[in-house]
Amino acid sequence: ATVTVDCESAGHEISPQLVGVFFEDINFGADGGFSAEQVINGSMEIPKSLLGWTRVGEGVEVQASTDAGIKSANPTFLRLTSDDSSQTGGVENNGYRGIGLHQGETYRFTAQARSTAGAEIPLVVRLVGDDDQVLAEQTCAIRGSAWQPIELMLTPSKTDANASLQLLMRNKGLVDLDLVSLCTTDTWKGHPHGLRKDLVQLLADMKPAFFRFPGGCIVEGSELKYRYQWKSTIGPRDERRLIVNRWNTEFAHRPAPDYYQSFDVGFFEYFQLAEDIGAEPMPIINCGMACQFNSGELVPLDQLEPYIQDALDLIEFANGPVTSEWGGRRAAMGHPEPFNLRLLGVGNEQWGPEYFERYRRFATVLEARHPEVELISTSGPFPAGERFDYAWPILRELKVPIVDEHCYASPDWFMREATRYDNYDRSGPKVFMGEYASQSVQLVSPLNRNTLRCALAEAAFLTGIERNGDIVDMSAYAPLMGHEQAWQWRPNLLWFDNLESYGSPSYYTQLLFSHHLGDQTRPTEVSDSRPRQPFGGKIGVGSVDASVEYRNIKYESQGKVLFEQPEIDANEVLQVGLGSRWLVAPEVVRQSNPSGYARAMIGDYQWAEGTLTLEVRKLDGRGGP
Ligand code: AHR
Repeated sequence: ATVTVDCESAGHEISPQLVGVFFEDINFGADGGFSAEQVINGSMEIPKSLLGWTRVGEGVEVQASTDAGIKSANPTFLRLTSDDSSQTGGVENNGYRGIGLHQGETYRFTAQARSTAGAEIPLVVRLVGDDDQVLAEQTCAIRGSAWQPIELMLTPSKTDANASLQLLMRNKGLVDLDLVSLCTTDTWKGHPHGLRKDLVQLLADMKPAFFRFPGGCIVEGSELKYRYQWKSTIGPRDERRLIVNRWNTEFAHRPAPDYYQSFDVGFFEYFQLAEDIGAEPMPIINCGMACQFNSGELVPLDQLEPYIQDALDLIEFANGPVTSEWGGRRAAMGHPEPFNLRLLGVGNEQWGPEYFERYRRFATVLEARHPEVELISTSGPFPAGERFDYAWPILRELKVPIVDEHCYASPDWFMREATRYDNYDRSGPKVFMGEYASQSVQLVSPLNRNTLRCALAEAAFLTGIERNGDIVDMSAYAPLMGHEQAWQWRPNLLWFDNLESYGSPSYYTQLLFSHHLGDQTRPTEVSDSRPRQPFGGKIGVGSVDASVEYRNIKYESQGKVLFEQPEIDANEVLQVGLGSRWLVAPEVVRQSNPSGYARAMIGDYQWAEGTLTLEVRKLDGRGGP
């Protein structure tokens, strides 16, 4: 290939904020992920009684109680009772898929505890390895019937990815425990109860221009009562109200029944993290809609006012003076200086008229009161091209400053769409490619892998984003990270377990573009005389040759072959659609079938029963090399 660069002519300015980070508490990203907290359900507030806690040893009774708890926001606690002083028993917590301990690192154990008036009960706090070896142990005395804080430092003698925390009574009597916590003292920037250093370092190394949080679908919630409400995620941890995570749902692959949001990491911590890694904070607020992939519950238009007020208060929390109500809350948490909020997303990935009528109401108030804050709107999810087509004319008419597009698709799609923005309307809103990732097999398929091909396809796509930096303002890969044993979605940019973390090939694509951002493009031509390959990275849009409809197909198991098209030739590709939605182009298995038939692999795509449409399309030669 020959690449010709015209260095004399002017090109576009490249946006200085082209590559950023999008964080959502999915795949155990926050709880069990970059939160340094190791104890699951330390507040005992998960509605499934004492989830995460099991009885160990002999002679002790364990129960959840609400009899005079610490605070009304945190009523439930753990009660241990023993009437046998010859036995040692208590409870064990296995953390988020095990507790990760590093040899020689110091871990701070804290809890609130009480006993009965006049009593003094020794409580043994132990870190126990996967092989039942005691790795660290301290004992404290629980005295009297008033709640009191306890703090102990523990230094494990061995590294262990699957350790547990044991709390054992060494005498008969009663011990109440609540707000049990175990955190390394070696956190990112040393913030107490802070974030895991290795994971934040990977984010900081990206030099992200912005930090979008807290989601994603968790902003919306499966129902409105489970939406993300930032006000209940700030202030003292015992006042943060836990909710079930949107990804603890049948809509997730590998749903995690123990997935709750403790808000150990809440809005203050997100703003602080953005500041720490030099990124612009970009919070997303609920716009009065629950997740449209779940209940799609709507707040009636005449009842939106509290939601809009939440957005106004958030701006005050981030930017207001310490004398203001919410600026004062920020200062009380240790940050009197403003966080300089400049970008705010109204809704996550909403679509349809119901979104635009809500967006309009938010925009009317927010633009009048805070012209310094740019609002980000959304065109809905991909694959659903028709939603984008529906949304864009309205977004232009609404004169929204920035539109958030989300695209999860095959590597072929990303390669082809390297030219996506070449002809976008320059006079309309700017684009934020706010969530994208190349799917090696199928949208959120458990079979997806972070292949080199995906990373290259994303790089091809990013060349188009960079080339059109005058209209595409920002971009972010999604999802950001996944626990190897607790993911609900893949691929992810980063992977981790309880001890270690690493970047996928896609992460290194992000680094390349983020670290080598130019300021201007130059007109460039690529000529390539090599014959175009029919498969392996190329897909063309062409005429429909054949179409087959299967009705009411229930997707049962992963990797199930649903359709076979005999006699497909090298110029044809297969596309699969469910109802009116085109799914990501499935892998066409050709090599294994030299006689030439294509197979559509649907993975365990489970969103609905419906009509499955299969089409064989001829390539029209526009597919790229
Ligand atoms: O990134 C995973 C999910 O994809 C996000 O929560 C949502 O915005 C999108 O559908």
